[in-house]
Amino acid sequence: MIQFEATQEQHEKVFGLFSKYREDRPKPYRNFDQFFATEETVLRRAVLLGSIPDISQRQLLFLGDSDLVSLAFCLLFKAGRVTVVDIDNRILRFIETVSQKEGLPIETFEHDLRNPLPKSEFKRYDIAFFDPPYTPEALNTWLIRAIESMITGGSDRKKKKLEVLSRKYYVLCYGYTDRETERGLKVQQVLTSLGLVIQEKIRDFNRYYGAESIGSKSDLFVLQPTPKVNIRKLDIARSQFYTGQKQNNPGSERG
Ligand SMILES: C[S@@+](CC[C@H](N)C(=O)[O-])C[C@H]1O[C@@H](n2cnc3c(N)ncnc32)[C@H](O)[C@@H]1O
Repeated sequence: MIQFEATQEQHEKVFGLFSKYREDRPKPYRNFDQFFATEETVLRRAVLLGSIPDISQRQLLFLGDSDLVSLAFCLLFKAGRVTVVDIDNRILRFIETVSQKEGLPIETFEHDLRNPLPKSEFKRYDIAFFDPPYTPEALNTWLIRAIESMITGGSDRKKKKLEVLSRKYYVLCYGYTDRETERGLKVQQVLTSLGLVIQEKIRDFNRYYGAESIGSKSDLFVLQPTPKVNIRKLDIARSQFYTGQKQNNPGSERG
């Protein structure tokens, strides 16, 4: 199912957009673990999302998007709905401005993902894309937010029907080097504990400017929920959330 080789035309469109708005793009903000993915990576991500079956009718949610994959995706493809949630208001304003100028249908929502999303608005998404802060706690929390935005809890068994679950995808970027296999194991443990199965894993799919702590690259996982997903068991680990800070008040210092 997965396809991520871009055509020349797609390449030109996405690189053209990035170069057009380069000067206005907010600089990466370390306290939110922002390390921008390269343009090539953003293009591959967009093409991969575009190859998901029936994407034009699917609801697509970006849990954080300072890499601007939502813009690249909408430039190349259509989806039923595209929403970006981020804590960083600068990123959201930038995405809104570019969307307006280019006529791209992207909704934005400012939110700290350490807290649950409002259930009334975030419950029917089909695909979530995210490149979370690089700690297992953040990974766990992001996955929980992704699950919550697609599968509602309670005793409604229909929500867990296989045909419903088989339409849900979580596309995750997460990195560890070959010397940190325990970190990779931790990722598998988090996924298993949440009842998610790895359908695809592409090693070193993502390249970054900076992000030396993960060797400036990360893997891409395509995950799906299994009937073992249990929303009631989901919990938030709040300690040591970001790689660069131990306290959970990310907005307190800019730098
Ligand atoms: C954590 S960064 C990971 C690196 C990624 N390549 C990047 O720079 O965008 C991914 C996104 O998560 C957002 N983010 C960080 N902490 C967040 C939080 N508590 N709630 C919502 N979004 C957050 C960042 O602003 C960024 O857009």
